[in-house]
Amino acid sequence: MSHYKNISSSMCSVRLRILLTLMCIVTLIPAQQTVLHNVIHRQATNLNGAWRTIIDPYETGYYNYRYEPSSDGYFSDRKPRNSQDLVEYDFDNSPVLNVPGDWNTQRPELLFYEGTIWYRRLFDCERTSGRRYFLYFGAANYHTIVYLNGEKLGEHIGGFTPFNFEVTGKVRTTGNSLVVKVDNKRSRDAVPTVNTDWWNYGGITRDVMLVEVPQTYIDDYSIQLLKGNRNTIGGWIRLSGEKKEQSVSVTIPKAGVTLRGKTNSEGIFAFSTKAKLSLWEPEHPELYEVVIAAETDTVRDDIGFRTIETKGQDILLNGKSIFLRGISIHEEAPFRSGRAFSEEDARTLLQWAKDLGCNYVRLAHYPHNEHMVRLADQMGLMVWSEIPVYWTITWENPATLSNASNQLTELIQRDKNRASIVLWSVANETPVSESRLKFLSTLVSRVKSMDTTRLVTAALERHYSDETTQVIDDPLGKYLDVLGCNEYIGWYEGLPDKARKVTWNIAYDKPLIISEFGGDALYGFHGDSLTRWTEEYQEYLYKEQLALMSRTTQLRGLSPWILMDFRSPRRPLPNIQDYFNRKGLISNRGEKKKAFGILQQYYHTVQNTWKTR
Ligand code: GCU
Repeated sequence: MSHYKNISSSMCSVRLRILLTLMCIVTLIPAQQTVLHNVIHRQATNLNGAWRTIIDPYETGYYNYRYEPSSDGYFSDRKPRNSQDLVEYDFDNSPVLNVPGDWNTQRPELLFYEGTIWYRRLFDCERTSGRRYFLYFGAANYHTIVYLNGEKLGEHIGGFTPFNFEVTGKVRTTGNSLVVKVDNKRSRDAVPTVNTDWWNYGGITRDVMLVEVPQTYIDDYSIQLLKGNRNTIGGWIRLSGEKKEQSVSVTIPKAGVTLRGKTNSEGIFAFSTKAKLSLWEPEHPELYEVVIAAETDTVRDDIGFRTIETKGQDILLNGKSIFLRGISIHEEAPFRSGRAFSEEDARTLLQWAKDLGCNYVRLAHYPHNEHMVRLADQMGLMVWSEIPVYWTITWENPATLSNASNQLTELIQRDKNRASIVLWSVANETPVSESRLKFLSTLVSRVKSMDTTRLVTAALERHYSDETTQVIDDPLGKYLDVLGCNEYIGWYEGLPDKARKVTWNIAYDKPLIISEFGGDALYGFHGDSLTRWTEEYQEYLYKEQLALMSRTTQLRGLSPWILMDFRSPRRPLPNIQDYFNRKGLISNRGEKKKAFGILQQYYHTVQNTWKTR
């Protein structure tokens, strides 16, 4: 499946020359047309709201009865021409679904639905000559095909990254029919594959916008501190359109920075400059307004500047050793459940993390919506960002690797200017094998080829060399900057007091983050500390686990599993789980469990003692 196919061959050779001269620039200039960057600061018409929909489990709207793609499917959005004309669908009188939003939680009959749903939105567009128009989707899960006025614009695979299609010259002044086929069927070769411990929320799950830009516009940029250099800003901007060679400027008023230059024939202006900055850190999340101006376009962004590195077993933020006081978070909407998508959802989840005493969040197991990372910038939370290479991916399938690499590329392209993101994670709990190592080391290389400033990690698993020695020697560890490791002592493995007996044998002299531990508790279910599913059991488990964390000298962070209960098809236990994973420290109705206070107290202590190390 081609994702984007407009790489101009000449660009590559020129780009290579530019890249060779800009080795120290933070993120290397992508070789292909990227998704529109920083859309929230662009002129756009919001297409959210009630869309007409057709549930289509047999894909009747796409295939004919011989299972061949039809030339006149639902995407034609046709009406009968006369009383004899046979048309067996009618968007105008079909039920609606809200966009953004998963379909599963909007109608009871769709809770478990896996298949295709067609969406249709009519819209007008007051066009201005010389301007360009793009249809932008924040995300749709999982396989999306987009049509405008009956013409296929393109497809996208992946449920958690943005995509767009240019519609300049296609969009009409009135009566545009935008039809979108979304299919959330799981498949063995997909990313993720068929088994996940989260709900397969389908649909147009994030914002849809008609974005307007000048004929030649600023289509991408990267502006960060150079790796390990806290007083030099490096970066590049790129114009797309006919007038690629323009005078441009990059201004950071609060830092007294004004850079002027000219883009080259490829539309690229690369730069570096000294700057005296107040560096971004959780306690002081300083963001600077950055204004990028060309002759034909101007765009602004809010960017924080910081460095993140490792030194032996330490993680250094702005050169200082830090401890990541974290919590894992699924993109589950607080109170209403379903896929979270709004700024309000993001603010609620991240404020709960702040209440816990966190300076870090693990956004599991896939790219979250852009509100989460932009709010993390503002609220002072470091982020572990991850693609859904989860459990038993088909490592030998080249198309699966291409899919994973594309989702990783789209994630980095979207978030490369976010100070909060300090870790890119390429996998979660994947079984060790030669083919898996080749697959994941290729993804690590992809990250390093795109972003030289952030750290690479993955959530590994450990094994025992004897009754009590936990070994982390996963061969993938060689390729990682930071080791992540999940362990469930006290829940899936023994009782909580087993944590007192275990020790570590870690094969790498690198920082360690315990990316998951935890246990389930149903809010309001009480009993003694050895009655499973009670809040008291979960509280006891946290006490024993945190004592183990305190004894783990290589530890530089943790993100227990998980902030809030979340839906999962793997958790049917009636009256306790009811298809929710109950490892949240907070229930899906926003109720704090007893273990919340245990972790909060631990983080309060760590915050005070870590400074003195
Ligand atoms: C695993 C996995 C999570 C899952 C958790 C659990 O470690 O990474 O996605 O939800 O364990 O079993 O609750």
